[in-house]
Amino acid sequence: MTDHTRAFAPDFLFGAATAAFQIEGAAFEDGRTASIWDTFCRVPGAVMGADNGDVACDHYHRHTTDVALMKELGLDTYRFSVSWSRVRPDGGPVNQKGLDFYKRLVDELRENGILPWLTLYHWDLPQAIEDRGGWTVRSTAEQFAEYALDVHDALGDRVQNWTTLNEPWCSSFLSYTAGIHAPGRLSVTDGVLAAHHLLLGHGLAVQELRARDAALRLGVTLNLTVAEPVDPEVAADVDAARRIDGQFNRWFLDPIFRAQYPVDVVEDIRAVAPEAIDALDAATEPGDLDVIATPLDALGVNYYHGEFVGGSVDPHAPASGDAPTARPVRAPFPSHEGIYWHDRGLPRTSMNWEVDPAGLTTLLEDVWHDYAEPAGTALYVTENGAAYDDELVGSGAAARVHDAERTAFLRAHLGAVLDAADAGVDVRGYFYWSLLDNFEWAWGYEKRFGIIHVDYDTQERTLKDSAREYRRVIAARAIDV
Ligand code: NOJ
Repeated sequence: MTDHTRAFAPDFLFGAATAAFQIEGAAFEDGRTASIWDTFCRVPGAVMGADNGDVACDHYHRHTTDVALMKELGLDTYRFSVSWSRVRPDGGPVNQKGLDFYKRLVDELRENGILPWLTLYHWDLPQAIEDRGGWTVRSTAEQFAEYALDVHDALGDRVQNWTTLNEPWCSSFLSYTAGIHAPGRLSVTDGVLAAHHLLLGHGLAVQELRARDAALRLGVTLNLTVAEPVDPEVAADVDAARRIDGQFNRWFLDPIFRAQYPVDVVEDIRAVAPEAIDALDAATEPGDLDVIATPLDALGVNYYHGEFVGGSVDPHAPASGDAPTARPVRAPFPSHEGIYWHDRGLPRTSMNWEVDPAGLTTLLEDVWHDYAEPAGTALYVTENGAAYDDELVGSGAAARVHDAERTAFLRAHLGAVLDAADAGVDVRGYFYWSLLDNFEWAWGYEKRFGIIHVDYDTQERTLKDSAREYRRVIAARAIDV
């Protein structure tokens, strides 16, 4: 170690993340039936290029190759999700063949010394459950806990780290209110109910899994952000930042860590959609919030960019980073009115997202002090990454992707994690999103986040320069400064 390196703690976990629908393919094999994303991909105009998950990265058939690549990178851990539609097709009885796939994957990981980090729900609800009301009804939360136990029956002896939900903000407000993600509903009430039942399903699953095995490490992953007002002296700007923080962060953190919904956000929503709050009150049974607030071992933080917002229009602000859609959509926040995004002049990725590594340090410090530390919950960065317009040069063994921007992004964000650790935050791991280029939801295959390039015609994988850099960092367990 020299004066020019910064070291990570010896037990810090370096990982990469993916999700079932985005990489597996084999959409209708071995008993799997449709999820809401299979259906949504077939709605005209919903997904760019009318792309779908039928083949994706064909990981279902190529998991051995993909685990070998992880090993080549030296990953300590791999975060993946389980497809509910494989394990309980149509939400019905258990499908052994579906579980067997995850057993093969997990065994392969363990044989290669890679710690499996399992997410139970990364947005792919069985369509049959959506047809019975989806996340807007309580029975879905109960079925989620049953499904969690089925997965535990198969993998409980070989997986220790379990995440219930990935980014419930997306699977509620972005999906049931904004209509941008599956199932594409456009209702404030549905978004609020979906968020409540996702949180309830999370709490029920944690309780059931904990009762089964006290040694499991249980957590949830949230998409959190840092909302900064354009001018802290201007009341409308401060209020815009408060509302963003409220709807992205506190709407989920407060019930999970404090057994309550944030009162100011309840009032924001009531002001625009009083029926949504009435529906939430009617849906909340005594004890729900205590279930939701069941203590956790791990909080996963997904961070991509901050939000620089004000109460007036920035004439220079670039257009939103949402996927272009030919379908009707609406604002993802119930009380979006009067919130405007401003430009800080920071570099942007091909998603049009700002590159703001310092925001990750601030976020980790804030979440640690306000929520995780008092609860004794460790933090993990379960996603962080960037899409760029990569170019594959050369072929065969000489193929390369010189993704200098992603490489710089990765190094800067790892530095930001070290800054948070230096400030006393208990942050124990970092998962780059994503291991592979994959299906980027409403953007289809257009956006590439991987450190490994995927040629979707041949399914050939190529390590990008960023992967080679990550391998160096992991081997040294340090970054150069
Ligand atoms: C968050 C989601 O969990 C993941 O599925 C998605 O691909 C990335 N962000 C990038 O948008």
